[in-house]
Amino acid sequence: MHKDISKYLNQLSDNLTIVNKLIVGAYLTFNNIELQHNKLIKTCIEGNDKKEVDEFTALIREKNEKFDFEDLIRLFEITIPSDDTVSNGAVYTPKTIRDYIVESSFSSFKLSNFNTLVVADISCGTGAFLYSVAKKIKEQTNKSFAQIFQDNIFGLDISDYAVERSKILLTLLALSEGEDEKVFEFNLYIENALSFDWHVEIDEFNGFDIVVGNPPYVRSKHLSVETKELMSRWEVTKSGNSDLYIPFFEIALKYLKNETGILAYITVNTFKRSLNARKLRTFFSSNQFNLSILDFGNHQVFSEKSTYTCIVLIQKNPKESILYEKIDPLSISQKRDFSMIKYKSLDDKKGWLLNTSKILTNIKQIERVGTPLGNKYPIKNGLATLSNDVFIFRPSDEDEHYYYLENHKIEKAICRDVIKPNRLKSEDEINRLKEKIIFPYHDNVKQKKYNIISSKMAILDEKYFQKTYPHTYAYLLTHKTQLLGRDKGKSFKKYLWYEFGRTQALADYGEKILFPYMSSQAYFVYSEQKDLLFYAGYAIFLDNISKREIELLKIILKSKVFWYYIENSSKPYSGNFYALAKNYVKDFGVCNLNEEEENYLLSTDSLMQRDDFLMYKYGLENEFDYRILEKVV
Ligand SMILES: C[S@@+](CC[C@H](N)C(=O)[O-])C[C@H]1O[C@@H](n2cnc3c(N)ncnc32)[C@H](O)[C@@H]1O
Repeated sequence: MHKDISKYLNQLSDNLTIVNKLIVGAYLTFNNIELQHNKLIKTCIEGNDKKEVDEFTALIREKNEKFDFEDLIRLFEITIPSDDTVSNGAVYTPKTIRDYIVESSFSSFKLSNFNTLVVADISCGTGAFLYSVAKKIKEQTNKSFAQIFQDNIFGLDISDYAVERSKILLTLLALSEGEDEKVFEFNLYIENALSFDWHVEIDEFNGFDIVVGNPPYVRSKHLSVETKELMSRWEVTKSGNSDLYIPFFEIALKYLKNETGILAYITVNTFKRSLNARKLRTFFSSNQFNLSILDFGNHQVFSEKSTYTCIVLIQKNPKESILYEKIDPLSISQKRDFSMIKYKSLDDKKGWLLNTSKILTNIKQIERVGTPLGNKYPIKNGLATLSNDVFIFRPSDEDEHYYYLENHKIEKAICRDVIKPNRLKSEDEINRLKEKIIFPYHDNVKQKKYNIISSKMAILDEKYFQKTYPHTYAYLLTHKTQLLGRDKGKSFKKYLWYEFGRTQALADYGEKILFPYMSSQAYFVYSEQKDLLFYAGYAIFLDNISKREIELLKIILKSKVFWYYIENSSKPYSGNFYALAKNYVKDFGVCNLNEEEENYLLSTDSLMQRDDFLMYKYGLENEFDYRILEKVV
């Protein structure tokens, strides 16, 4: 849809009744639809200014050349108040995905049953899925739309204007095929799906044959207390900080017919691995639901939002395995090539590792080699000040005692070196990328126990701080309001205003290999500066480890084998980036090497020879594995 059209609507009004009037008025005018009887549409366009409608119709003619149902749906979607896209998770589904979902859910029923299918969207938004379903039933049965709306279509949404628009959309669909009833009876409810009981609302309700939709994706931190309370009544979100889409699986399955019912959602794919979806994974695996996942990986499906999604199809008949395929949205209509993955091979607690069975075997094999990285070396997260722009700086000048930052002096003695692994690609960049951090802590406890020096950082006393480092104190004071506002003010009930926002990593000390939160390539950079702090990234700490072992570890981490492991087991982001969080790297097996093997790896400069050797070492050397590795790396 051309941006001038959305601009026109958005500047016109944020009153949705006025926007509806204009969209519907223009739709009827553009398509020469004569309206005689239908009350809903009459009320909708009542009082329309003909000049305004003609102007908008002309704009659509000029910029879009057509005005069909997809355009209508699109216009309803782009005029949703932006607040609702955050609090209600109103993101809308492209037609190809909707069509795939509707087609695949209908394909498990015989044509002769289409007449009586009971189909629901329990977060229906402006009714795009219900529109596709109604059209499908009409095409296959030739039932009247009036009858289809009464017998076959059920919808619900928490937002009143969404339900109103669903009714308008379905009515216009009927009108476009010549059905101009005075009133259509709809089963569309303005309700909260978390508490709505379909058995109470519908007489002789026997469950849905099909539930389709795009459940609201709202992160836990944006949910109201009331919503959280309602979520705690569902098994899959009884506790923890769950996102709103999670209970929509359980709700749909509760109201789905036992033997034949099918659920088909487009949803975020994070439930495979995320901590807050543990109970959902257990819910799926303990019931052994018949589950198929079409994973879009790092391909973006929704144009207006960066989300990682998948299509999930579920039936309640138990199966030992789930079906999984990674696909590109552009090839959605091609024949499916699912891999079967046994529920019992999946770890509900740690997260589901889903891939083709060949790749899964390779991943498991890599994890079995040697010792897991996380067991061999501590892997730690960097500092989190929650106000890096205040604490971290590049001095514009310096003298014996001070760094200069804009027009402030900062005492050198309160500063430490800091680096951001997210930016770092090689050792020779360290000096150029190092910054200074104001570090208002002192080493509190230093005890020698079993030859290990453990130290704990304590925040400087405010009076002492002011007296000893008056310039730095004065500088921080100019940012006091910003510092107190960190973390929405929450942490600073607990911490002093000049403390960092989190206490993590304050006392971390030692040689380390630094690496970023996410990247498109393996960057592992060694620093021998023991007191170098870091933020926005991770580090593998290397206590009492020889330079030789460090060099070998770097070779392994920069190998094709490691990146193959990450590409196939970590969380993907767009631009071929992958998460390197501790959880995704800690199980990588660091292989044991004998002296001869070590010498070989250290003596060859050829990356290819090292990779070949390591593939052999990890048991991935056979023809097939080699080709996979060639393809992905
Ligand atoms: C992603 S939109 C889905 C729209 C529609 N299925 C589509 O793709 O065209 C999510 C919808 O969920 C609705 N919603 C949010 N919380 C809800 C709740 N607790 N109960 C019912 N609907 C809810 C929002 O108002 C929004 O319309």
